[in-house]
Amino acid sequence: MQYRRASGSGLTLPELSLGLWHNFGTDRDLDTQRAIVLRAFDLGITHFDLANNYGPPPGAAEETFGRILRRDLHRYRDEIVIATKAGYRMWEGPYGDGGSRKSMLASLHQSLSRLGVEYVDIFYSHRPDPNTPIEETMGALTRALQSGKALYPALSNYDAEQTRAAQSALTRNGTPAVLHQTRYSMLDRTYEHTLQHVLTELSIGTTVFSPLAQGLLTDRYLGGGTPDGSRATTSPFLHRADITQTYLRTAHALNALAAERAQTLSQFALTWVLRDPAVTSAIIGASSVEQLEQNMHILTAPPLSTAELAAIEMVLQ
Ligand SMILES: NC(=O)c1ccc[n+]([C@@H]2O[C@H](COP(=O)([O-])OP(=O)(O)OC[C@H]3O[C@@H](n4cnc5c(N)ncnc54)[C@H](OP(=O)(O)O)[C@@H]3O)[C@@H](O)[C@H]2O)c1
Repeated sequence: MQYRRASGSGLTLPELSLGLWHNFGTDRDLDTQRAIVLRAFDLGITHFDLANNYGPPPGAAEETFGRILRRDLHRYRDEIVIATKAGYRMWEGPYGDGGSRKSMLASLHQSLSRLGVEYVDIFYSHRPDPNTPIEETMGALTRALQSGKALYPALSNYDAEQTRAAQSALTRNGTPAVLHQTRYSMLDRTYEHTLQHVLTELSIGTTVFSPLAQGLLTDRYLGGGTPDGSRATTSPFLHRADITQTYLRTAHALNALAAERAQTLSQFALTWVLRDPAVTSAIIGASSVEQLEQNMHILTAPPLSTAELAAIEMVLQ
């Protein structure tokens, strides 16, 4: 594993991290979940990305990870970076959602209890809350640090302007954000023209989510169908209707370029995301140990050449 430093901080993260948004709820088998997490750790994935609401049901992914931590990884706690987030709806009533101090800190206490840990390493504001002053939301992140319940503050899904306002409030508190988590893949390049330059300017590292576009940048859907159990058949966030002719043409063209350098499409897509030195870590999901192992092979792959990058641009445009 290679580790990259989150710009402007002392924290290093593995180039590939494991996210528990899907595949770690009570709808999946604990033995498989445990095998994925343990294999990831053995392969040098020291960073696990969670959120209060990951499940199903919400909270279940933290409980699953907490169970694995207690049973297998307890003594390695200091070798592991645990990230969690608050900001999306999590419980009933007015305080189970948003970025108020009440919601953020109550959510963090719940996360610590589900995970069975005394602190998390990274605590994200999962999204901006237009109804709460940014100083209050950022104040809650600072408070989490000051109380020892989190080590690094971070942002997710903030646009450029919101990121500037948040970082300025955090810097005034003496606790600048070290990471910003944003979607980025060959199929969604919004980050390149919205956030990339701002994060570099503000010395905030970047953790990118869905670098495989939830499986669209793998061989999962190349046949044109939606295999049983795949995310397109089990999740409200990816749909059968996403497997369009346009998508298939793009995916096959990328797959052909990947084959020329003896990579699978998923390996190709991850190598491409990590070509950007501003990316601290690509957070992948996996529903099996095999997927995880296949993706790990990128760590020994040669960098993309200028000609390969140009060929990718041709396909994506
Ligand atoms: N901050 C935010 O708002 C936010 C939002 C979304 C995600 N995230 C974070 O980012 C993490 C990753 O997101 P993601 O799960 O969408 O990432 P992803 O890596 O783009 O997609 C993961 C899915 O791709 C498929 N896959 C992975 N490797 C494969 C392989 N080698 N061959 C075939 N299929 C493969 C699997 O789908 P199947 O399940 O079909 O097998 C897997 O579940 C999340 O867990 C979460 O931690 C954060």
